[in-house]
Amino acid sequence: MLELDYTNILEGAVHTHGIPKIAFDKAAESSRHIVDNVQRAHASGVRGFGNLPSDQNAVAAVMDFARSHSYPNVLLLGIGGSALGPAALDAALGHPKSGKRLIVLDNIDPDFIRDSLDSISPKDTIVNVVAKSGVTAETMATFAVVRKWMTDALGEAGARERFVATTDPAKGDLLEIARQEKYPVFFIPPNVGGRFSVLTPVGTLPAALIGLDVEGLMSGARNAAEQARKGFFENPALVYAFIQFVLERERAKRVLVLFPYAQSLWKFSFWFKQLWAESLGKKMDRREREVYYGQTPTAALGVTDQHSQLQLFIEGPNDKSFLFWDTKEFRNSLPIEHPFTNFDSLAYLRNKTMADLFRAEKQATEIALTEAGRPNATITVDRIDAAALGELIMFSQYATAYAGEFYDIDAFDQPGVEYGKKLTFAMMGRPGFDEYNRRIEEIRHRGRCLIPAK
Ligand code: PA5
Repeated sequence: MLELDYTNILEGAVHTHGIPKIAFDKAAESSRHIVDNVQRAHASGVRGFGNLPSDQNAVAAVMDFARSHSYPNVLLLGIGGSALGPAALDAALGHPKSGKRLIVLDNIDPDFIRDSLDSISPKDTIVNVVAKSGVTAETMATFAVVRKWMTDALGEAGARERFVATTDPAKGDLLEIARQEKYPVFFIPPNVGGRFSVLTPVGTLPAALIGLDVEGLMSGARNAAEQARKGFFENPALVYAFIQFVLERERAKRVLVLFPYAQSLWKFSFWFKQLWAESLGKKMDRREREVYYGQTPTAALGVTDQHSQLQLFIEGPNDKSFLFWDTKEFRNSLPIEHPFTNFDSLAYLRNKTMADLFRAEKQATEIALTEAGRPNATITVDRIDAAALGELIMFSQYATAYAGEFYDIDAFDQPGVEYGKKLTFAMMGRPGFDEYNRRIEEIRHRGRCLIPAK
């Protein structure tokens, strides 16, 4: 099971930048309603993310589909919560020699799309179009381009059998189009929002199509969901939410640095960034007060960013808290063998392993940050496998929901993102968005300060 070490969050470790032990004891008493609120939302059907790993039928359906649709390439068209989760699963669990490749088109840069399509063959590719709303401009535009690419190569019928959609069961144009084109469709439960949807077919279908262990993923998630319903000191998600809430509100740690010490978790930190940022970055609280809450998540990769950002982290402004993601075991230890015993720079490494060096560097970073009074915590899993990813995902989702309760905000909406989507629709001439065009014109008429290119 996943373990949370928060020693270096305590005042005893980082002095005035930390949290006194007694505050944890008080929180254990005062935070009971936090778990209850999220549980009640699940029981009433308002929220669904915590129940997903128990839905055996949903897992069986994606596994069955994957067995009968075996293609070397899975091309996923989606963005935000409809792309970051599958990309994280692939990066953590996929293997270069598996003969399966996931290509995620989560940007509409035309060169990126062209180059990605040029790198694969339509006949060897299944396309998964993923959009909860079924109308997102980026995904729908990419769908149009990819559909033409497929149809030009394979004709209408050949193209049709290589598309599968993942969307809301009741609304959205993608659903209508999928029905019209007779694509198979997988559903995202309406009570599961985009950034909480990686354990729906949004993540499980591409995972199954590239041969990942979906059952293992779900069993890890189930364990973490059970743990997230326990009492305070047995509940890492609740303790972690409390820590970040206090550090951000009372110790001015406005930045959260996600620091995986496992290359395979690098994309997972991008998934987490969206979850934390979009859920907790809010203008209004539940009582309609303007609060402008949120902690800015950013990512640094161990050990790579020790030689890039660590100087700032140790000596720059003390406005950050740090979350390390660590693993007890690697798949390889990789011995450092060499004959250069007369060179100081290599002699001490002899008979050690790359895993030893990696671990030492993580501990060195942790000690350096702690000595500099920078609060940091570590989440450790036994090894990076499907069950561990399931645990990390569910831990993160509950921690985010619980943080929303501490802040007393709605962690499940995203009005800022929706507003940006509407401005885009207006600029691209979609009917019904004239009101936004007026605002765009107003801004454009304000005049510009520009140094023109010569
Ligand atoms: O978390 C969210 O709801 C958003 O980030 C969405 O995932 C993102 O905007 C994509 O939306 P859709 O799946 O409707 O295309």
